[in-house]
Amino acid sequence: MLSRRQTILRRLFPSLFPDPLPPPPPVWVPLGALDDFPDGQGKPVVIAGRKMVVFRLGEEVYALHNACPHNRVPLSSGSVTDRTLRCRAHGARFDLKTGAVLRGPARKPVRTYPVRHTGDALEVEVR
Ligand code: FES
Repeated sequence: MLSRRQTILRRLFPSLFPDPLPPPPPVWVPLGALDDFPDGQGKPVVIAGRKMVVFRLGEEVYALHNACPHNRVPLSSGSVTDRTLRCRAHGARFDLKTGAVLRGPARKPVRTYPVRHTGDALEVEVR
């Protein structure tokens, strides 16, 4: 958000404020095959230096940051019911697809990573 002063300066001297760079293109990294992930369970992985947990529900695969935002407990030890991930430590619940908090004590959402199928293989997007 620009301050009023910044907005005025941009209008008066547009050449001094070039447009910001576009966001970097998505980077898709191989995750493995669908069969590498047991149905209904979390599997911890490290992709591009990021600790993730991958949950497979049938043909759908979700990747999330593998730490509960409440107290950093690995979410790979949590349980899943109806696309809801429950942290085993204090019972916080998160939407598997969006990472949104459905029930406390966690207040912040879990970071999620897009996953796509490429033939038999899976890829996860990291930026
Ligand atoms: S560490 Fe997950 S709910 Fe407390």
